[in-house]
This record gives sequence, structure tokens and C-alpha cells, in this order.
Amino acid sequence: MAEASKKAFVTGHPIKHSRSPKIHGHWLASHGIDGSYQAIDVAPRDFAEFLRTLQANGYLGGNVTIPHKEAAFASVDRRDQAAEEIGAVNALWFEDGKLWGGNTDGHGFAANLDQFAPGWASNGPAVVLGAGGASRAVIQALKQRGVADIRIVNRTLARAEELRHRFGSGISAHEMSATDELLADAGLLINTTALGMQGNEGLSADPALLPDHALVTDIVYVPLETPLLAAARARKLKTVDGLGMLLHQAVPGFERWFGIRPQVTPDLRALIVADLVPKQ
Ligand code: ATR
Repeated sequence: MAEASKKAFVTGHPIKHSRSPKIHGHWLASHGIDGSYQAIDVAPRDFAEFLRTLQANGYLGGNVTIPHKEAAFASVDRRDQAAEEIGAVNALWFEDGKLWGGNTDGHGFAANLDQFAPGWASNGPAVVLGAGGASRAVIQALKQRGVADIRIVNRTLARAEELRHRFGSGISAHEMSATDELLADAGLLINTTALGMQGNEGLSADPALLPDHALVTDIVYVPLETPLLAAARARKLKTVDGLGMLLHQAVPGFERWFGIRPQVTPDLRALIVADLVPKQ
């Protein structure tokens, strides 16, 4: 009998906007793997049942996105260290009969900067705009790479303070009114909010206030060049867009399910860039 093909998925609600099937599909095809990676829309009330029947349905594992990352965190049998630190799960797999949950978003963030701005982690203090789910993954990566001074700026100070407590030493929490002052000696500026996304107002942080050596990055990738990155570029600062974080976060999952560590190549990037027109 022919060996069953390897099956993985991404689940969210809604899910049709997800570019993950294109990313994994590209790797499956380029490595000639007999496998599939499917987008599955699962409503929150059906998520527990979806997890319970995963293995019976032949899945090796998959990705989890909004709004299921916290439910996945709570439901898995085991979690990796990144998931514990971030408090959310974006990747699932089976090991020794247990359902494991991991988080590869922080890896994606760091690997993107490694690719386009090597040495970034020793650039100096980091200013992180936002204190939501994406911010947690960024802070986990910054801490993991040894960034010693991480300054979280958020509209709601209490959420920034929550993250300061969560991640401990080296983190400070600030109101938005402190931004100008915090930028003056910063080496990294990271936007983790949806501000600057197509249709949204831009941010209040002004890259003109940063030192010349500073690096500016945005986790938003639609548009690829956000108003923040455009302003940083006009100021002749080094910038890295957010698309690479999406591409790199997919690498560890693919390796786990399909057994080959894939590369984030210019071809893959071009494929996804071509797909960045807003989806209905
Ligand atoms: P995600 O999981 O994508 O990070 P989130 O948890 O909703 O999303 O977090 C969104 C972030 O964008 C938060 O830091 C939010 O600030 P608050 O904590 O004060 O809500 C920030 N944000 C969203 N809209 C904003 C706005 N108009 N001005 C400033 N910050 C905003």
C-alpha cells in the first residue's frame, strides 16, 4: 500500500486571508514532498473538537492563528519554552503520543533581522511600540538574543506593565508621551501594532529622532513599506520590512512536519509579495 501523504494545516477564524498555504505549498513543491498544507476555518466553539480529532484525521500538526493561539496554549499536553514565554501557541505537532504546542513567531522576528540586518541584537536599546500578542513574541525574541534594555510604549500603560512583569528584568513600560525621549538613544525601533496597516492611521513615533545607527522594523507587511519604514528610509536609517517574519516563522513548523528545513529564498519572497494585494 502506498504511504499516506503527509498532512499539515493552518487554522484560524477567518482563515482565507492566510498566506501560509502558499508558503508551505511552495516548499512542498520545491522539495518534491508528497504532502499537503491546508487552510481550515474553525469557529472558536469547534476548536477543542478540532484538536481532539486531529490525529484521527491524519494530521501531523499545523499552525494556529487568530483567534485560537491562546486556546491552543491552554489545550495542548506540552509546550515549548517559547510558547511558555509568549503565552500563546502558533504551531502544533505530536511527539511521544502527546500534542505539543510551540511558538515560532519570536524566531521569525529574529531570523528576519538576522537575514537583513546581521548583528542587529547589539545595536543598543530597543523601543517596542505596542503591547499586544505580537509584541510578546517580539519581546521574547529580543530577550532571547540578549537585548538588555527593552522599552515598551503603549497607548494603554497597564498592558505594557503587564508585559514588564511577564518578561522581568531589562524591560520598562512607558506611555506614548515618553516616545520622543526614549528614541533619542535607541538602536532599534519596532512597531508591533496594526497602525500603519493599509487603511489605518500612521504612528506617532518619529524615526527622525533616532540616532544614525538605528534600525527600524515593522511587523506589518501590508503595505510592505509602512509609513514608519518610509519615514525611517527618508532619514537614511536601515529598515527591515515585516514580510520576512511571516516567512521565517513558517520554517520550524515545516521542518517538524515534513522533515526538511526549508530556506527563505528570494523566490519565495517574490511569490508572497505578488500575493500582497488586499484580500476580500
Ligand atoms: P496583536 O495581537 O496583533 O498584537 P492586539 O493584542 O489587539 O493585537 O494589540 C494591538 C496593539 O496595538 C496594542 O498595543 C494596542 O494598544 P492598546 O493596548 O492601548 O489597545 C495598539 N493599538 C491599536 N490601535 C491603536 C491606536 N489607535 N493608537 C495606539 N495604539 C493602538
